[in-house]
Amino acid sequence: MAISRKVREQMNSSSWIRRMFEQGIELRKIHGPENVFDLSLGNPLLEPPAEFKAELTRIIAEVSAGTHRYMPNGGFPDVRAKVAEVLAEESGVAFTGAEIIMTVGAAGAINTILRSILDQGDEVVLIAPYFAEYVFYAEHQTGVSKIATCDENWLPNIKSLKATIGPKTRAVIINSPNNPTGVVYPKSSIRAVAAAIQRAEQKYGTEIYLVSDEPYRKLIYSDAPYPFIYEHHPRSIVATSHSKDMGLAGERIGYIAVNPRDPGKTDLLDALNFSLRTLGFVNAPALMQRAVAGIQRATVDIDIYRKKRDRLYGTLTKIGYECVRPDGAFYLFPKSPIPDDIEFVALLQKELVLVVPGVGFGTSGFFRASYSVDDWVIEGAIEGFKKAFDQINS
Ligand SMILES: Cc1ncc(COP(=O)(O)O)c(C=O)c1O
Repeated sequence: MAISRKVREQMNSSSWIRRMFEQGIELRKIHGPENVFDLSLGNPLLEPPAEFKAELTRIIAEVSAGTHRYMPNGGFPDVRAKVAEVLAEESGVAFTGAEIIMTVGAAGAINTILRSILDQGDEVVLIAPYFAEYVFYAEHQTGVSKIATCDENWLPNIKSLKATIGPKTRAVIINSPNNPTGVVYPKSSIRAVAAAIQRAEQKYGTEIYLVSDEPYRKLIYSDAPYPFIYEHHPRSIVATSHSKDMGLAGERIGYIAVNPRDPGKTDLLDALNFSLRTLGFVNAPALMQRAVAGIQRATVDIDIYRKKRDRLYGTLTKIGYECVRPDGAFYLFPKSPIPDDIEFVALLQKELVLVVPGVGFGTSGFFRASYSVDDWVIEGAIEGFKKAFDQINS
């Protein structure tokens, strides 16, 4: 077959995703869709906020000549200015539109960032458990990923991070609220990550970016303020999107925010614009840029996710599953009651419950359950979780 060896390898290494997807289809065919309880997907359940539809309707009514043409690669200047204004208000950092680049979702943002800062063989440090696509993004953009670990509360293990950052490290990616653990990093963790980066920069005479992937930033269930990264490291870049906070995953709209304090920001912004264009994105979708610009404070009804979190976390821990309580995103990452997470996931499948083995996030012995699903799916899954747990412990 004429496909790339590299892509074939990458597809094989992520084949469990495809397998699970296929098994889900098979199970639905055999047992009926209403009897399969699929917690394996990270697809946002909630519909976009009412403001989105109102804004979209208003914009469509106002379409004028030129609306659908190319624009500067980083996005419409007025859209970037509006995004900057709200981000400045939320973060307390003096952003202007110049530091914002509109992107094709957070995935497009991360690829654009990595393409802009990596040379062949440069290293990107990830912290396990991590969003598995990062590994492929790094490889696509000519880099290599290196994996540091977390502590037992799913916060970055700083000792491991220090040992993983080396002379070829160009970026450390963090993700809070986290997929798959749901954990929100406190300020102390971000400060410690930044200190580890700065120590390595001095040791190796290099410049290392702290890249914060924040598509779940507004899906937080505690009242604590979100600790932004900008004050901790000048070379910091945020990648985010409205896939989750506005329920717009299919519309592919997000942005990059470059720290206004970055001494190299002019070069970086030039490189980001160039990479966004030449990766083939060219620019973020025009209509979506306009639709989200004026509703930057709007979100889906987060209380609905909070209730689902409470129900699934509360019940699973009552059954006996061990799990760090997640404060954000829409995932739980419980410990597998048997050491082999793949075996346990297969056991759950017999109860028609689908979850993702921890090995898929670089951390065996755990599994990810998404509660971004209808309540009947959660209730059906709870039955299956109980049966599987009792079977193991009987
Ligand atoms: C941690 C994380 N980063 C990035 C993405 C990609 O988001 P987007 O749809 O905005 O590209 C996802 C999507 O699930 C995610 O979970």
